[in-house]
Amino acid sequence: MRTDSSPQTIFRKDYTPPAFLVDTVELGFDLHPERTIVANRITLRQNPASKRRDIVLHGEDIELVQLRMNGQLLGKDDYLLDHATLTIKKAPAQVVLEIETLCAPVQNTTLSGLYVSNGNFFTQCEAEGFRRITFFPDRPDVMAKYTVMLRADKASYPVLLSNGNLIEQGDLDDGRHYAKWEDPFKKPSYLFALVAARLVCQEETFTLADGRDVLLQVWVEEGNLDKTDYAMQSLKNSIRWDEERFNLELDLDRFMIVAVGDFNMGAMENKGLNIFNTKFVLANPRTATDIDYAGIEAVVGHEYFHNWTGNRVTCRDWFQLSLKEGLTVFRDQEFSADMIGTDTGRAVTRIDQVRTLRQAQFPEDAGPMSHPVRPDSFVEINNFYTVTVYEKGAEVVRMYQTLLGRDGFRKGMDLYFKRHDGQAVECDDFRAAMADANGRDLGQFERWYSQAGTPVVTARTRYDAVKRNFDIILSQRCAPSAGQQDKLPFHIPVAVGLLGASGQDLPLTLEGGKHAKGATTIVLELTEQEQIFRFRNVDERPTPSILRDFSAPVVLEYDYTDDELLHLFSHDSDPVNRWEAGQRLAMERLLKLTAQVAAAGGSDANLKLDPTFINAQRAVLTDETLDAAFRELALILPSETIIAEQMDVVDPQAIHTARQFMRRTIGAALKEELIAQYHANQTPGDYSPDALSAGKRALKNLCLSYLMVAPDMAELKLAQQQFEKAGNMTDRSAALVAMIHSGAATGPYLQNFYEDFEGEALVVDKWFAMQAAAPTTNVAAVRQLMAHPAFTLKNPNRARSLIFNFTNANPSQFHAADGSAYDFWAEHVIKLDAINPQVAARLARAMDRWRRYAPALQAKMKQALEKVAARAKLSNDVLEVISKALA
Ligand code: ARG
Ligand code: ZN
Repeated sequence: MRTDSSPQTIFRKDYTPPAFLVDTVELGFDLHPERTIVANRITLRQNPASKRRDIVLHGEDIELVQLRMNGQLLGKDDYLLDHATLTIKKAPAQVVLEIETLCAPVQNTTLSGLYVSNGNFFTQCEAEGFRRITFFPDRPDVMAKYTVMLRADKASYPVLLSNGNLIEQGDLDDGRHYAKWEDPFKKPSYLFALVAARLVCQEETFTLADGRDVLLQVWVEEGNLDKTDYAMQSLKNSIRWDEERFNLELDLDRFMIVAVGDFNMGAMENKGLNIFNTKFVLANPRTATDIDYAGIEAVVGHEYFHNWTGNRVTCRDWFQLSLKEGLTVFRDQEFSADMIGTDTGRAVTRIDQVRTLRQAQFPEDAGPMSHPVRPDSFVEINNFYTVTVYEKGAEVVRMYQTLLGRDGFRKGMDLYFKRHDGQAVECDDFRAAMADANGRDLGQFERWYSQAGTPVVTARTRYDAVKRNFDIILSQRCAPSAGQQDKLPFHIPVAVGLLGASGQDLPLTLEGGKHAKGATTIVLELTEQEQIFRFRNVDERPTPSILRDFSAPVVLEYDYTDDELLHLFSHDSDPVNRWEAGQRLAMERLLKLTAQVAAAGGSDANLKLDPTFINAQRAVLTDETLDAAFRELALILPSETIIAEQMDVVDPQAIHTARQFMRRTIGAALKEELIAQYHANQTPGDYSPDALSAGKRALKNLCLSYLMVAPDMAELKLAQQQFEKAGNMTDRSAALVAMIHSGAATGPYLQNFYEDFEGEALVVDKWFAMQAAAPTTNVAAVRQLMAHPAFTLKNPNRARSLIFNFTNANPSQFHAADGSAYDFWAEHVIKLDAINPQVAARLARAMDRWRRYAPALQAKMKQALEKVAARAKLSNDVLEVISKALA
């Protein structure tokens, strides 16, 4: 909670090195839910790189009991203490501080610092949670060695964990026990963690590439031990992958993953003791979907990979967050792709990444919270754990690999670790390692870190049949964003191929290029505002396939004809662009239909969908040479959010009506094929989450959803039967979702589902989520669901399942004309803010794009924003989001 009146903006340019460095930290915890005593002994010494002599320690929501400096008890006159800092002026060059503080974990609903979840103790310190545990220079460039002594009641908290190695444990008086942990590596405070809990674990000894044996553990509550296999398998796969792909080995004797039900984010890479949202650990076929399994693999990988990209080499300051997050997301993306192993499998993961960027990152880049991958300022750092820092950051890292090649990228990584192991560094250091290892000038590439906004690349082409030249003229622009009026050209890799009339890839000869003979994809480097690229020896006018594999996070404009798009949609050897051609065909139609609906006062009575498009969809649906997973992606229409981003004035109802019309029309026209594919893509036998089976289920369930847009009795029956007979959660939930969306009476099914899974928190989340996101659910129905005994605002997963899914995934109801859902939003931002500012601030962002809606909606959204802004006691988190939205 903000305790002073005006929130401060912190600027990257104001960075100064810490006045004092910390060598060792000895922490002693006497854990009690109401009253935990923390004894903290730190050795500090003056930083030769700083001239300042004051020791500044951060502290928040903790009570100082006692403070000693070099053995001497300090009195109130010896230090300055305010709501955020403890300062000792003109301290000696070498200092031992002994600090005793009190905190109340059970009262801590922010889930930052030390807190209690379901009776167990957990910590979350990134970004600035350590200061809620003890006074400390809580900044990532202060790295120290930690020893941790935990004491707690043995019966209630039989398991005591912290970072590194367990060096001692035993019993104490009064039924308490202790455990002493030592982390051999120095680390920033944000990587500290402890767990004191009643938990059980699945464990295994695993042999590393160098022959060392390490202990792997996955800790969960007792009833969940049957849901840890996939996390364990993913951990082992991650360890192997990092050894093989980057020659990076686990540096500890022991690696632990702990699952907790109350968690603000996905997971946290604390050294040797990763703490995870249960959502990214627990899975068995009965409770988890294919998407959940993929999420577990990705997040287990992500947190494990942080051990090198984040922990061994960390961030100098929080503006550099993408240094570790962008890089680690890229690494987990590559890991997931390599786990599938096939080219189309890889492309399918790439398409998913593109969808995420368009769904969430492009809107962020164009909205009030727009910021560069390396932000220049923030009010609350927790607001900057964004899709821009993470996913766009990963795109920036991917572009190095695209520009330098896989080997060149690996050389850069090797140099990065050679130079910076054990250091806290900047994004620029990573870029320098990439450049130096490859003898390349990557100076201009810096703009990807400093300039916000999504670049637009416009392509024009001309063909000279006589000279057999084909020119691609690329130009770039980028809209202004907060504090950045004019932008300089980016260094953009644009991968290009040319298709001949029969759909084959033409061998490419780029004028002035030095590419392998016979290459069919070439990466053009667009560095100027406009550039001409000439291909020679082109015998026929080709169809250009531009931005293959989505080689840069940009919007590509090119005046494709329908025929060209159809050509690419049926032939492009690059699956990402093949998919993209289908999306363009669909988008063109969706925008036209939306305009027609709006002009007809909301009616879909006179809409038409051309047979050309339907036939193209049919061809992909029935092409059994294509992976099911790819066919599914090719058949999904762009989401309502992505359509909205293409419009100057957004009309959510018209979008929904147009998209539904299109889905209904496709469903009716392709009915026979959909039914045939539905049956052809069953996955009988034991459930397996592998990509091939998951792809079949995805396609089959997409078929079902099309058939269920306007179902007849037989189709309804199909869904009901799938629901009843499903041997896994993927099929069961897909059937239920299809029923809910169809508007059919689903009461008994929902009831049945709830009763079957009442005891499974993550499935109850699904139950709320699927109702919240259904276009048949209005705000009144959401309010009713909130009254359900299983609903609580205090658990972030639960709050997100119902409230966020309504505000973010149900646009036609969230934007109901009377504005009632906006009032609902304001009410819950305020309510959540009193409990958990980080979660509240995420909800606050549902209004980011308010200025783009029709005037009547806009006015109501503004009112709702102002209602929140008018509250006297807002957190910095929410205040920053709301004030930027209104600015
Ligand atoms: N570093 C974590 C990750 O793996 C995220 C932690 C973010 N925590 C927060 N309170 N913002 O991405
Ligand atoms: Zn991360």
